Parts: sequence; C-alpha cells; structure tokens
Amino acid sequence: MLRLDEVCVRYPGGKADVVERVSLHVPEGAALGLVGESGSGKSTLARAVVGLTRVTAGRVHVAGTDVTNPKRDALAHLRATAQMVFQDPNASLHPRMTVGDAVAEAVTVRRKQSGPELTAEVVRLLDLVGLPSRFVDRFPFEMSGGQLQRVAIARALAAKPRLLLLDEPTASLDVSVQATVLNLLRELRAELGLTYLAISHDLAVIHYLCGEIAVMQLGSIKETGPASAVLKSPLHHYTAALVDAVPRLSGRKTDRIVLHGDPSDASARPSGCSFHPRCPAGPAMVEGHEICALEVPELVGDPHAVACHFPIRR
Ligand SMILES: Nc1ncnc2c1ncn2[C@@H]1O[C@H](COP(=O)(O)OP(=O)(O)O)[C@@H](O)[C@H]1O
Ligand code: SF4
Ligand SMILES: [Mg+2]
Repeated sequence: MLRLDEVCVRYPGGKADVVERVSLHVPEGAALGLVGESGSGKSTLARAVVGLTRVTAGRVHVAGTDVTNPKRDALAHLRATAQMVFQDPNASLHPRMTVGDAVAEAVTVRRKQSGPELTAEVVRLLDLVGLPSRFVDRFPFEMSGGQLQRVAIARALAAKPRLLLLDEPTASLDVSVQATVLNLLRELRAELGLTYLAISHDLAVIHYLCGEIAVMQLGSIKETGPASAVLKSPLHHYTAALVDAVPRLSGRKTDRIVLHGDPSDASARPSGCSFHPRCPAGPAMVEGHEICALEVPELVGDPHAVACHFPIRR
C-alpha cells in the first residue's frame, strides 16, 4: 500500500536533508508506527507521502502507483487513496462551517452527490466516527477536542481512502479522551480494512495502534520491526532510551538512560551515526567506537532491523 525508496527531503534553503534516505514498506491492512522525538522529520515524511512537501530524491509509491511529487493523474490517484489526519482538528475545520457542511464538502470534492443522498452520506460518515446525526448543525466552537478530531477523521474517510496517515492524532486531546479516539481508530482499521502510517512521539500510542514500528532520529530510520520486538528488545541505543523514558513500557524506574543534547537541530547533522554525540554507548568510546563518528551505519536485519555499528545484545 505504501512503499518509500530512499526518500530524501531538503527544504528550500536548508543546509541538510531533514529526511534522509528513508525506505519503508507498509503492506495493505498493516499499521506502521513512526516514532521519534520532535524535529526528527516525521511530519515532513508524511507530508511528502501525500504530496504536500517536495521530495528531493527517492520514490514514493502508494497502492502500486508512483506518486513522487505528483501531478494531475498521480495526484488524483493519491487523493482518492491516501488521506491525512492532523494533530490539531481546528486547523482543518472552518470555524463558521457546521459539521454537516464540513463533512459534505469533503464528500462532494470527490463525488457528485447532493440532496438526500448527500445528507445520508454525511450521516453515515458521522455514524462511522461515533457522532450522532444531530451534530450536523453544530459549529466547531460547540464541540470538544475529541469530537472535532472525530469530524476530521470523518472528512478524511469521505474520500473512501485505503491509506490513512495519522500525524499525532491524539496529541492535542485531553488524556481522558485520547483513549476513546485511539479505540475509534483501531476499530475503523479493522472495520474498513485500512492501512495506517501513524506518527507519534508517544510509544504507548504507537504500541496500541500499530503492529510495526519504525524509529526515526534526525531524519533517518534507526530501527524497524514488529512493535513487540522493538519495544521489548530494542537493538538501537536511541530506541532503548525512548523506551526507557516510558516507565510503563520499560517496567523500571531506576537507571534511566537520559537523552542528552538538542534533538532537533537537523541543520547540524553529526557525521557518521547521527545519534553518536548523544549515544549512551558513545562516551565510553570503547576501542572501535570511532567508527560511529565516521561511518553511517546501514539498516540491517529482517524483520527486526537496526542501523547501529554496536547494536544492543540481548
Ligand atoms: N516548512 C519548513 N521549512 C523548513 N524547515 C522545516 C519546515 N518544516 C519543518 N522543518 C524542519 O524540519 C525538521 C523536521 O521537522 P518535522 O518534520 O516537523 O519533525 P517532527 O514531525 O518529527 O517533529 C525540523 O528541524 C524542522 O525545523
Ligand atoms: S552507531 Fe554507534 S553512536 Fe550510533 S547508536 Fe550505534 S553505538 Fe551509538
Ligand atoms: Mg510532527
């Protein structure tokens, strides 16, 4: 459903790629979770997939079609197949448009529908995301964050997509409603047979939604594999540090690995392994570790892959 081959993104005027040679593969019906600190390039990658950000090198395939920097036909194919849900539902909803009109607009962009047929489709979409039909007359200011995110999801589903890109879908919501929206997303995937690329800085969110994980740090994939394997036995020092920052997942509170340094300075990418100045294995500089500052490690292993010269041994 989604295949990225060596995708690079560099913003105009930027000194370095903020997405660097990313290759990923998401089979139909699967859910891949992209995790990493803020600034690691997750949103840029998702926007590149849906054609909102220009890819500087590499190829993007969605449902078998090359949609790299799409024009006309490829763009039409892309919009009908892949939809994005953003972190802040307010950003995608017009404040003076009712929920009914907002969802109807998303339907009519794709299909010529009107009258009772359109009303029925709007009600069907609202029902799909767990909102009663009386919500059609509501305005965004009359709704909670969780309800607004449901409307944003309904609008994305109006295109009848096969792939949903979820960029921090619950990060703007109160903790108490995060779980209900996550439940909805999990149910929708099962019910509609959707494929997900879900982005979060929260490992628990990814663990709940996704069977596969890719860990991103300063623009490149450091580790990827089945979610259970990656979270239970991380092979990369960066993943281990992320997992360790979540006591619920790591099951321990002492001997925390602390992440040092500025995570988001994509313009000053370190040489070799981009994690090397912050790597807990680095400062020791055991003989041979000089290679970390000199050579970019390749992502190797199947299905659990790691890009590290000295992966964690279990
Ligand atoms: N429109 C833009 N122009 C230039 N740089 C950008 C733009 N958007 C993001 N960046 C930079 O690209 C890097 C990755 O950002 P982003 O993709 O938003 O990361 P994430 O979603 O993982 O937090 C950051 O260093 C950010 O400052
Ligand atoms: S390649 Fe070296 S610096 Fe990078 S994570 Fe592995 S051990 Fe640490
Ligand atoms: Mg982001």
